[in-house]
Amino acid sequence: AAMMQETQVLTPTDAGIATAAALLQAGALVAIPTETVYGLGADARNGTAVAQIYAAKGRPSFNPLIIHLASAEDARRYVQWSDTAEVLASAFWPGPLTLVLPLAQGHGLSSLVTAGLDTVAIRIPAHPAAQRVLARFGGPVAAPSANPSGRISPTTAAHVLAGLGGKIAAVLDDGPCSVGVESTIVGLAGPAPVLLRAGGLPQEAIEAALGAPLSADDGTAISAPGQLASHYAPQAMVRLNATAAQAGELLLGFGAMECDLNLSATADLVEAAANLFDHLHKLDATGQPIAVASIPDYGLGRAINDRLRRAAAPR
Ligand code: TXA
Ligand code: MG
Repeated sequence: AAMMQETQVLTPTDAGIATAAALLQAGALVAIPTETVYGLGADARNGTAVAQIYAAKGRPSFNPLIIHLASAEDARRYVQWSDTAEVLASAFWPGPLTLVLPLAQGHGLSSLVTAGLDTVAIRIPAHPAAQRVLARFGGPVAAPSANPSGRISPTTAAHVLAGLGGKIAAVLDDGPCSVGVESTIVGLAGPAPVLLRAGGLPQEAIEAALGAPLSADDGTAISAPGQLASHYAPQAMVRLNATAAQAGELLLGFGAMECDLNLSATADLVEAAANLFDHLHKLDATGQPIAVASIPDYGLGRAINDRLRRAAAPR
């Protein structure tokens, strides 16, 4: 996963667009330009591909990611649409606005994209090259900003290469981003629309379209779900650093060991990250307490441990 590779620089010709789409289809990471910032794209249905995003960025925790689609019509198969969503989508999509909506049944997205939430963030970028890649790929692309964690967001392909060159399959170079700050995020999963992140689309424009003020982010669950201690809270008790299951427990393993479910029998942290939320959900559904093997605390292991600590935190 974190293996060094030659990062191809693609140009927005028909061949370049086709290569970008084919790499995404194959589960590889491709940085794509949008009007806000360059995004680090992966197939949002492919848990292993999404896990590579966290590995390449060195991101220490699993924050939920925005999925990018070619058109507003495509959004409806992933989320429960609403009248307010329709108002904002027809006013501002495609463009620098992200909407958070309740997930639809059978959405097919990796649980790493939603960080185990029952909502998902959707964006329809206006950038022509992004539009062409998304249309050609034909599926949802998860994409945070294409920079190493904690560093400045990239607005040129050179920024992307400086931060992530050698760690991603390709970058599609179409010059500088026109907006240069991330999209504005509006939450539509609660009783009233909430401004979750200020960004490239001014709040005033959104309020004018709604004919009402946006609620302020009240700092609870939805704004920064990854940061809340008990955000991912299984019903069951969770015990960390287990070497064996005690009476009544189910063991979530890592590496070669006898256990009920294994995050990665070959001790591959990328595979473990891709499996984490799904395995926890499966074990939690039994109602039995869960013991979890210790996970190495480097690379994606840091993000896995961050999430496991939250799962085990007193609540
Ligand atoms: O402009 C942009 O939005 C760029 C380009 C590449 O599209 N993307 C971007 O992604 O900024 P990222 O990963 O930096 O922003 C994702 C943020 C999360 O940190 C979280 O605040 C919010 O979106 N978010 C995502 N899913 C959410 C959800 N289900 N509920 C609440 N907030 C969510
Ligand atoms: Mg970012």
